[in-house]
Amino acid sequence: MPAYAILGAQWGDEGKGKIVDFLSEKADVVARFAGGNNAGHTVINNQGHFSLHQVPSGIFWPQTLNVMGSGVVVDPPSLLEEIKSLKSRGIDVEGRLLISERAHLIMPYHIELDQLSESARGENAIGTTGRGIGPAYSDKASRNGLRVSELLDLNTLKPRLKETLDHANAFITKVYGGKPMKLEDVFRKCSEWSQSLSPYIGAAEDILHEKLKQNGVIVLEGAQGALLDLDHGTYPFVTSSNPTVGGACVGLGLHPSQLVGVIGVFKAYCTRVGGGPFPTELTGQTGDRIRDLAQEFGTTTGRPRRVGWFDAIMANYSSKINGYTSVVLTRLDVLDGFDSIKICVAYELNGERINRLPGGQGFLQHCVPIYEEYPGWDKPTAGATRFDQLPEEAVAYVSRLEELIGSPIDIISTGPKRHEAITLRSIV
Ligand code: GDP
Ligand code: IMO
Ligand code: MG
Repeated sequence: MPAYAILGAQWGDEGKGKIVDFLSEKADVVARFAGGNNAGHTVINNQGHFSLHQVPSGIFWPQTLNVMGSGVVVDPPSLLEEIKSLKSRGIDVEGRLLISERAHLIMPYHIELDQLSESARGENAIGTTGRGIGPAYSDKASRNGLRVSELLDLNTLKPRLKETLDHANAFITKVYGGKPMKLEDVFRKCSEWSQSLSPYIGAAEDILHEKLKQNGVIVLEGAQGALLDLDHGTYPFVTSSNPTVGGACVGLGLHPSQLVGVIGVFKAYCTRVGGGPFPTELTGQTGDRIRDLAQEFGTTTGRPRRVGWFDAIMANYSSKINGYTSVVLTRLDVLDGFDSIKICVAYELNGERINRLPGGQGFLQHCVPIYEEYPGWDKPTAGATRFDQLPEEAVAYVSRLEELIGSPIDIISTGPKRHEAITLRSIV
């Protein structure tokens, strides 16, 4: 009963979409377990160039069932749009997409509240994707949420919606001075979603367990990344779910012993979108060069991504809490042609060298990175599919990262397309 989790190991956008697509050839199921349409996963394969937000990245392998688990928050209009767009491009979704009846709905008032709360924070804004993620998870935790299954019975939904909408409207009007939403308007939308989404809603957890019993291969697709984790990330500049391995189990109703592999996807450098501390951030020419070369702009919001050197303190923490059995290193090719490349191996905090990620809010802001510097390489790694194609300086850089992360690098991705990768050890 093999289940493998593929997790974002930094601040998101590590290339999870590419790696899930690359590794799902033998998968029976690909399952998202957290997040919503804040995610933007790019897949480039023989069927085209795709940006997925809610549909799992296994959808391009015809044998896969693609599951959105109980830990996911679902935005019906954008999901329906995504399904339509995939169908129009010849990707068969019918009977291959299953939404857990336990998943929660992102409602229009969650999107409104996300935007209102961000404006109210002013210069301390989180820089959210504005998709209603935080308010949807807050409502779930405070027992004011609506589950996807509630769309299947509109008669009982209406009084429930009145309750949840009254609660949301109180915040919209009394806290933020906004305009309340009308029950009839929101209910009309729910009725439309009920029709169009009902074929996709089902008993996802039971089906996952059944597949595992039959020895099926399940790939768990992470969204976001370890440093955006609500508990372990750079709080409060995080998302509102747990993209780490515990979240993977909770968000699909699987138990840890069913996971035979935990695969951490790291970029060969760092990026982050939105606010929050970023010790190795490069704000000058080098950062601009990486951003332009690598087209580091958000897949969901189009915002320029902040760029920085690889941070091994963060990477090691990410590895510690997730227990990676394998690491995938992406975007090595982006570093082709640099004279030298830096890795942050420690921080200086208040005049002292520290080797750990401080958990207290505010400390990280004052951490100054301590770097090791490595020579760059002239020969391109772009598109390499064999290890012996890598220049020796690139090999030295990768080896040092492996040592610092503390888990084996089993795949090195050298380009955005499906097969642009070097497999050192087969992992799925
Ligand atoms: P995700 O959110 O983790 O799925 O990552 P995104 O899709 O948001 O961002 C990753 C970007 O890197 C996308 O544009 C991918 O096409 C691209 N990408 C993935 N792996 C590689 C790689 O090895 N090299 C290069 N140059 N691009 C890559
Ligand atoms: P993928 O799956 C990068 C960031 C936002 C913001 C913070 C909170 O593509 O890696 P939210 O809308 O979740 O409340 O925003 O989290 N963020 C991401 N950054 N990649 C993502 O997803 C992200 N999802 C959320 O930019 O800083
Ligand atoms: Mg992304």
